[in-house]
Amino acid sequence: MSTKRALAQQLGVVAGFDDPQVSLEQYRTPPELAATLVHTADLQGDVEDHVVVDLGCGTGMLALGAVLRGPTQVVGLDVDPAPLATAIENERRVAAASSVSWVRADATRAPLCPDGPTTVLMNPPFGAQAGNEHADRAFLATASEIADVSYSIHNEGSKEFVESFAADNHGAVTHAFAAEFELPHQFEFHEKDDHVVDAEVFRVEWRE
Ligand SMILES: C[S@@+](CC[C@H](N)C(=O)[O-])C[C@H]1O[C@@H](n2cnc3c(N)ncnc32)[C@H](O)[C@@H]1O
Repeated sequence: MSTKRALAQQLGVVAGFDDPQVSLEQYRTPPELAATLVHTADLQGDVEDHVVVDLGCGTGMLALGAVLRGPTQVVGLDVDPAPLATAIENERRVAAASSVSWVRADATRAPLCPDGPTTVLMNPPFGAQAGNEHADRAFLATASEIADVSYSIHNEGSKEFVESFAADNHGAVTHAFAAEFELPHQFEFHEKDDHVVDAEVFRVEWRE
């Protein structure tokens, strides 16, 4: 297994969104945070010999991190075709030995029935935009249906919500940690050049 740092370096070539849509909360998960998620999942035995699904894959960052760690299959799913085209280009840049299946679909009604142990990795929309509230809840619901375990990034203060959602859906939070990442100045409502987001990451075991 390569180090987390080496993985972050490999993911450094993943290009961001060409024309990010604010309504879909399109920002690239930073390579360091993606590497932390994938490396942690790998150490837990949740990547190798697993099907890995990146819900709301955008540029493909998490799916591409996973494909570098020897899973049986990786699926990257997004509702918007534009970032999927970027993800395909990013796959060429990362030059992994195996390929990712890119799927255009709504993650809240994902047409997936994975065969074998399945891990979801996701940085869902936080539901921060008007009209998009609770977007992360619907992504968690899909994870609860298709995955044995999920790793998800949420905005700060989501612990109670994620724990109670998991408990209501035959799941349990096994790991939680805080993360902070910088977003580039890409949307007009970002007042500063860079915008630091306080986030929380959760590992949830489903179907306990
Ligand atoms: C925070 S971004 C994820 C970024 C991704 N991990 C990356 O590094 O590029 C959220 C992603 O969810 C996608 N998305 C939003 N709503 C969706 C839905 N209902 N179904 C599938 N994808 C959705 C957006 O298009 C966007 O790519």
